[in-house]
Amino acid sequence: MDTLISPSILSADLLHLEQSLRECEQAGADKIHIDVMDGRFVPNITFGPNIVRACRRATKLPLDVHLMIVEPEKHLEAFAEAGADIITVHYETCPHLHRTLQHIRALGVRPGVTFNPATPVEGLRYLNGMFDQVLIMTVNPGFGGQEFIPEMLQKIRDTRKLLDEIGSEAVIQVDGGIEASTIAAAYAAGARDFVAGTAIFGYPEGIRAGIDALKEKLSLDKL
Ligand code: DX5
Ligand code: ZN
Repeated sequence: MDTLISPSILSADLLHLEQSLRECEQAGADKIHIDVMDGRFVPNITFGPNIVRACRRATKLPLDVHLMIVEPEKHLEAFAEAGADIITVHYETCPHLHRTLQHIRALGVRPGVTFNPATPVEGLRYLNGMFDQVLIMTVNPGFGGQEFIPEMLQKIRDTRKLLDEIGSEAVIQVDGGIEASTIAAAYAAGARDFVAGTAIFGYPEGIRAGIDALKEKLSLDKL
């Protein structure tokens, strides 16, 4: 598929998570994005492997685990065993990123790398083939409901160029402030996988309408 929609359960009603995941599936979501925060790398604390395990029982959609934690290498087995299909680690938290990506792959999980807004992506040049997705953070990680940082459009374009130069087939994902007014610009810059929390789970007319609104913007953009 050309574009992917990845609802972030950070903004979901956890009391009705099973129902929300079903609605995402029925509305044509492509993956489920699970934000793991440790109160150290980012100020907030959220989920651990137990939530990944619960989601695994509730949906067949791929589980895309975004680790906003220090020393992620200590927890890779736990998230893989819980049912993660993709594990994305922050460049800032991995002094031995090459080894960490090898480790994720060896666990049978697809590796992703993500970058805070101020972190350059140049290191990817030396890791071709070791990552399946590059997540460009379009807010400072830690909280849902923040505004898209417009300077990240240039960073998405720079990443697209770098991936083309090295012949990488990795997908560019964006996360933070993705909604109807920002998604088309991110697409035009080169993003193809769109994480959205507030714009889906906080959409006034419901989850399906939220996903439809994002997809509609993407299809208009391609006309
Ligand atoms: C932010 C998280 C995001 C968050 C996005 O640190 O990584 O996945 O859920 O939320 P929205 O879509 O509300 O900006
Ligand atoms: Zn995220």
